[in-house]
Amino acid sequence: MEVAINDIITLFILVLPALVSNASPVVIAKLLNGRMHPIDFGRYFVDGRRILGDGKTWEGLAFGVAVGTLVGAIIGLALGDISYYTLAGLIGSFAALLGDILGSFIKRRYGIERGACVPILDQLDFYTLAVFALWLAGYPVKCSAAVLLGFFVIIAHVTTNYAAYRLDLKPRPC
Ligand code: CTP
Ligand code: MG
Repeated sequence: MEVAINDIITLFILVLPALVSNASPVVIAKLLNGRMHPIDFGRYFVDGRRILGDGKTWEGLAFGVAVGTLVGAIIGLALGDISYYTLAGLIGSFAALLGDILGSFIKRRYGIERGACVPILDQLDFYTLAVFALWLAGYPVKCSAAVLLGFFVIIAHVTTNYAAYRLDLKPRPC
């Protein structure tokens, strides 16, 4: 599997807004001091467990998409193609947060409580969907580059979440 460094850099630039968007909800959660509205409206699934749980809120979703889109616009401004990168930011961020929501849905179905760590799923749910959505939208996503960048994302996610935990932004480091 030959991976061109250019493909990795291209993908990194495209997916960067999605990575930032995934890390943003925790900030708005801190600012709003937990006064948030769960996406599942507090409802329960047929298995008697919460559909998503209190860790997935409308405020977090909206803030994450807004921040990710803004990051895309800034990248576009720097690289001279605002609409191309803003759209990548919007698509990538929305898909990333959707992937994160899907991850929570899966965790709840296995009876795993909100905030509990599930290695790999926690690190890759958002990234996988973001990369897939960007590819679907026609952005240049090479499979080999996506896999290699995935390893970087795992390390970056573990590191930033541990930092957020130490900074008292999260009660658990994942
Ligand atoms: N968050 C949010 N809305 C989202 C995503 C995240 O409000 N759509 C906030 C919540 O305060 C959440 C925090 O960001 O607790 C950290 O996100 P994450 O680690 O994804 O959620 P967890 O609390 O770990 O919940 P889960 O087990 O469902 O992933
Ligand atoms: Mg978590």
